[in-house]
This record gives sequence, structure tokens and C-alpha cells, in this order.
Amino acid sequence: MESDLQKTLASLKESSSYRYLPIVDHVSSYNFQSNDYLNLATNTALFDAASDAMKHYGFGSTGSRLLSGNYDMLTTLEESLATFLGKERVLVFNSGFQLNSGVIPTLYGKNDLIIADKYCHASLLDGIKFSGATMKRFNHNDMAHLNDLLQKNRSFYKRCLIVTESLFSMDGDRAPLKSFQDLADKHYADTMVDEAHSLGVLGEAGRGLCFQEGVSPTYIVGTFGKAMGSCGAFIAASTIVCDYLINCCRAFIYTTALPVPVIAATNQALALIQHMDLERDHLHVTARYFTKMMKQKSYDLLGDHHILSLIYPGNRALLDRYSQLKDAGIAVAAIRHPTVPKGKERFRFSLKSSHTKADIDYVVEQF
Ligand SMILES: Cc1ncc(COP(=O)(O)O)c(C=O)c1O
Repeated sequence: MESDLQKTLASLKESSSYRYLPIVDHVSSYNFQSNDYLNLATNTALFDAASDAMKHYGFGSTGSRLLSGNYDMLTTLEESLATFLGKERVLVFNSGFQLNSGVIPTLYGKNDLIIADKYCHASLLDGIKFSGATMKRFNHNDMAHLNDLLQKNRSFYKRCLIVTESLFSMDGDRAPLKSFQDLADKHYADTMVDEAHSLGVLGEAGRGLCFQEGVSPTYIVGTFGKAMGSCGAFIAASTIVCDYLINCCRAFIYTTALPVPVIAATNQALALIQHMDLERDHLHVTARYFTKMMKQKSYDLLGDHHILSLIYPGNRALLDRYSQLKDAGIAVAAIRHPTVPKGKERFRFSLKSSHTKADIDYVVEQF
């Protein structure tokens, strides 16, 4: 058995696809690898909330939500999020991966059709696979292709779900949410929009892109581990759906609830993000500046907002350049094949509201 594993690992090394765990300097101003877009992970108000809650309740949650782990502050978090997003109900999960891979198979099964954008996150794709539904993928953000797939396939299935991210984690671009929802309505399909990278950063008061575009998908997914500086995730949906998940979703039922300080800090983060317009504006200005400066050096960055990617084809070439950037003190995600298609290997720069023009100038100097 181990020799089979070794063979696979050797071939991953051969193709420069071998993964290892990097140690990142989190306090460096040249950290472009973090999803902590609003610097909330180091915000002292979150520490205080966490420590106060811990002093009162302890550290671990001591059980699953259905047993001893359902703290009143978890319910408060769910109610505040539902109000914030204008949704009937919210249910908190331990992580986005757990949510996406657990919720989709709970709600959809082998007689259903699920159509997803080709660039959707692995957790969504795994959820679709685990459901046993017929899966189709539409070309990235291509609404004509989505329409075509719906026209050809929809009538053979009772239920249909279409899935997208609102701001894509790899290309940093936005989904055409209005057309997406219009197509779903036309074909009587449910919609799931993963707002992991837009929540807190985009839309009025950080409410995300669905809110900004005035679309109301059947399910909105958000995570706390990115702009909210914490960890965990939530689904916003109807009361019936959430009650069903509480009763039937194994990924919700059979797991220990989030630790107490995490829940308290997340409540605090939710209160703070609503007043962070300055940070959001700064992120947009920094993103535009970075794009402009790289363009002056003839590099085109992908992405419209705080996630900007530089296509740098070839795993080997990417890793060599990555080492040079690392030596210069710059931490940036080198995204290789097979996470992205061959030829689309890239550096993904995640901007934080603490990045200054000087930080950007330093990075641009390295190219
Ligand atoms: C779009 C998207 N959805 C879900 C997840 C998973 O969330 P979590 O890190 O909370 O498991 C991620 C990234 O981690 C993501 O980028």
C-alpha cells in the first residue's frame, strides 16, 4: 500500500505538483497570501470578544449543536446574519468545505440535475459528486452555455440546482448574477451562490454581491475564515431548508460545534464589517493601483477586486519564480496544475486593507 502512495508522490514531484506546507510570515507587509482581506484576524476587538466568552464558557464547545454545543451566541450569530442578508434563516457550519460537501448531497440526489460553473470551488464540486445527481458544468461565466445546458437537460429532471461563486477565488472576477438568477427562474431551477470571497468586502456594508445585485438565490453560502478573520461558514436559506438540514444533514449533525472563542469573535467581526467602508474603498484603490503598475510593465492581472492573478504558465517556472519572490520576503500563492488547468498556473495576490502603495511598489519592482 505505502509503495503505491510513494509512486504517486514521486510522480507529483516529477511534475512539480507536489504539495508541502509553507510557513508564512503573517506580520510581514508583503504577505499577499492571506484571505484576511480586512485585517480582522489581528483586530483586538475580536481577541477581547473571544477572551471574554472563553472566561465565561470555556474554550471548546463540548458537543454537537444537537447536544451540548448550541450556545446562545451561535443563535445570535445566525439571527444577525439573516437580518444582515435579508434572508429568512441562517445555519452555521464548522467550515465552508464541510458545508458545501455536506449540504448539497442532503438536498439533492440521483434523480436531480446540478449544473455548476467550471471554476467552482472543490468543495462545491465534491458536494455535487457526493449527491449522485447528474452533473453538468458550464464554461466559466458563460450564460449562453448555461442556457443551452438547461434547455437540453432540464426537462428530464424533477429538480435542478445551478451553482456559482459570486467573486471567483481563482480569477478574482464576478459572476453575472442577474443573468444567472434570470435563467434559473426561467427554467424553474434552484440557485446556490458561494460568497466566500465577497462577503465583508463587496456590496453595501459588506453584504456581498447578491445583495448588491438585488438577486435572492435559493441558498447563499458564506465563510468566516476570509474577510471576517475567523473560521466557520454559514448557509442562508428558507426556514424549511434550515430545519431540514438540522434534521437530515450529517455534516451538521455529527460534528462538534465551533469553539466558543471562535463564535464570539465571529459575532464581533460581523458587527465590525458593517462599518468598514474606508477599508473596502482602500482595497479597491489598491487593486486598481496594482493592476495599473503591473500593466506598465506589460503584465496583465486577472481580477476586478482584491483577488488578482498573474498567469505564469508551467509548474516548474512558477515555483522557480516563487522562490525568488520568497527570498525577497514576498508571500504569494503559487497556484499550480492540477488546481488550475495546465497553462493557467498563476500567482494569486490577495490584497489586504493594510497594504500600502509602497508595499505594492515593492512587489511590482520584483517583476
Ligand atoms: C469559494 C469557496 N468556498 C468554500 C471554501 C471553503 O471554506 P472553508 O475554508 O471555510 O472550508 C473556500 C476556501 O477555502 C472557497 O474559496
